[in-house]
Amino acid sequence: MHTLQETLSRRGVDGELLTLIQSLASCATEISALVRGGALAGVLGATQSENVQGETQKKLDVIANELIKQALQAQPLVKGVASEEEDDVVAANADGRFLVSFDPLDGSSNIDINSLVGTIFSVLPAPAGEVNEAAFLQPGENQLAACYMLYGPATVMALTTGNGTQMFTLDPKTGDFILVEEQVSIPADTAEFAINMSNQRFWQPAMQNYIADCLLGKEGQRGKNFNMRWIAAMVGDVHRVLSRGGLFTYPQDTKNPEKPFKLRLMYEANPMSFLVEQAGGVASTGYERIMAIQPEGIHQRVAVILGSKNEVNTCLEYHR
Ligand code: F6P
Ligand code: MN
Repeated sequence: MHTLQETLSRRGVDGELLTLIQSLASCATEISALVRGGALAGVLGATQSENVQGETQKKLDVIANELIKQALQAQPLVKGVASEEEDDVVAANADGRFLVSFDPLDGSSNIDINSLVGTIFSVLPAPAGEVNEAAFLQPGENQLAACYMLYGPATVMALTTGNGTQMFTLDPKTGDFILVEEQVSIPADTAEFAINMSNQRFWQPAMQNYIADCLLGKEGQRGKNFNMRWIAAMVGDVHRVLSRGGLFTYPQDTKNPEKPFKLRLMYEANPMSFLVEQAGGVASTGYERIMAIQPEGIHQRVAVILGSKNEVNTCLEYHR
């Protein structure tokens, strides 16, 4: 049994980064307890407010956001934070080395149906000078660490510090995250895809054609039958991809012309891409590597295609 702390020390992770990751883990332990309390913890249902992206905030979105924001502001190593639920970046400690961007509660539409939700973190180096939006606008390649915590039947954490992807499970008796997989490896091939099929008529031709060929199965040019899964929480779908392979995508669509993309670069796409690449997978918009994108705004959204290397590459061929 190796705790998070023992695992990171043994792997030679920078002591300050280790301290930061432990703070992120403690936030998740607290959120996990609230999620488990459900209606009894008074965390279900919506608030009266909307976030900067015009989405109604759930009670647990707001609670998780406040909990993480306060914990990170109290952490001397953190210079600033950016959250999916905050309009602007929030300054923390002037001497801090790290910037943290996060999605406090991914998959919020699952909260009230007792289904999968999670938290996603991305850690960037803090540049010298003021903490403003520009400080956060670094490509995903600059990430020092990325992790998600999935509040499922077990609470799990997938973590990378740029040297493979590790998987931990929360021991509810001790509150420690325990190492369960030292090197996650996504199978290169898969016959499973995850996409919100209800948007089919709004996709670009490349994605229409790729999915159409998957659906033709054995009789089509792919020559094999595919299975489909959709959890409606990126953390859940990416966790399945890390666990047994698959292709996950939220492609561009024309459903709402003002919002061609759904997933956020800084809070979702970049950290998940880092975890997937470090587990041997591929993460792309269809046209470029997600982690190479130079962000233009902290709330920017992108198309995401990620997962098993050979399958994602096949999908990318439809985009050429
Ligand atoms: O955060 C956005 C998100 O909830 C993702 O976690 C998830 O993959 C997606 O949106 C679900 O989208 P839809 O509501 O279209 O199924
Ligand atoms: Mn989300």
